[in-house]
Amino acid sequence: MRVVSGIQPTGNLHLGNYLGAIRQWVDMQDRAESLFFLADLHALTVVIDPRELASNTIEMAATLIAAGIDPDRAILFNQARVPAHAELCWLLQGTARMGWLNRMTQWKDKAGKNREGASVGLFTYPVLQAADVLAYQATHVPVGDDQKQHLELARDIATKFNQDFGVELFTLPEPFISPAAPRVMSLRDGSAKMSKSDPSDASRINLVDSDDVMAGKFRKARTDAEPLPAEMAGLAERPEARNLVTIYAALAGTGGDAVLAEFAGQGFGQFKPALADLAIATLGPIRDRMVRLLDDRDHVAVTLEKGAERARTLAGPTLLAAQKAMGLQV
Ligand code: TYM
Repeated sequence: MRVVSGIQPTGNLHLGNYLGAIRQWVDMQDRAESLFFLADLHALTVVIDPRELASNTIEMAATLIAAGIDPDRAILFNQARVPAHAELCWLLQGTARMGWLNRMTQWKDKAGKNREGASVGLFTYPVLQAADVLAYQATHVPVGDDQKQHLELARDIATKFNQDFGVELFTLPEPFISPAAPRVMSLRDGSAKMSKSDPSDASRINLVDSDDVMAGKFRKARTDAEPLPAEMAGLAERPEARNLVTIYAALAGTGGDAVLAEFAGQGFGQFKPALADLAIATLGPIRDRMVRLLDDRDHVAVTLEKGAERARTLAGPTLLAAQKAMGLQV
């Protein structure tokens, strides 16, 4: 078993990233050889300020360590420092098909109507993501539900490469989607996922938010006027309410029905403060550890470089085997 996953160092880490991905990363690092990286090359597919990218990368690395990623157990690094990602991405460009990439919902959403003006990188983004996991022969990729399609594409690319070149080179990676919180939704709109790129900061709980800011965001979260039902089935048509109960259950490590057994009949006036307290108790200590780690940014940078060195060693043989299979080694 080999676990690989990444996160773009754009904006702040939020509750969706934490419940959908990072918490699984922390669990898995004890069970398998794990590699986690800041996807700074992916961040280049949209216009980004170079200084901001560099400082975001350090800040997000510190947040991951604060959240429980142990750089002595897991390999933590930034993607750009392991050239095999970009090299393998180029080798896989001949295997990936335009039609496959055209069907990617993230490409359709991000490019919108302006496809001619979108960067080429935004289009080939999922090929780099395939290289990220295939370079390490990943068996499991813990991600939120929104990345499932990209992982299926990585499997398609791996299968076609193996067939085209008659090799058993790439392992087919399995997406591992958090059962508790596959898709955390926006606090302002129950039909949109919580996202770093939402212009409204009130739509998400950031891991760097102060206790008061978190409490305020939950207080103002969109809900309805009905009391809570006794079972999750009663929330089928109430996406905002369902989202808050799901977040509570995921943070508490129980199921939605267990939460509702406690709060059935109560309104959001009672539920929201309880949810805020639980979130603050879980996320507050992570934020405080992160702030302390950022007192020494150079130390975080050195940690990433050590991780990159280990990652380069692991990716090397697969890159070489791909080059050989393609006739690049004469
Ligand atoms: P990114 O940076 O958007 O998100 C990082 C992780 O957080 C998950 N996530 C969510 N989960 C539940 N609810 C949400 N609202 C939510 N928002 C985000 C994402 O699914 C992801 O697991 N393309 C990737 C980064 C990447 C990657 C990879 C991932 C690059 N290479 C290789 C896995 C393997 C991305 O933009 O994730």
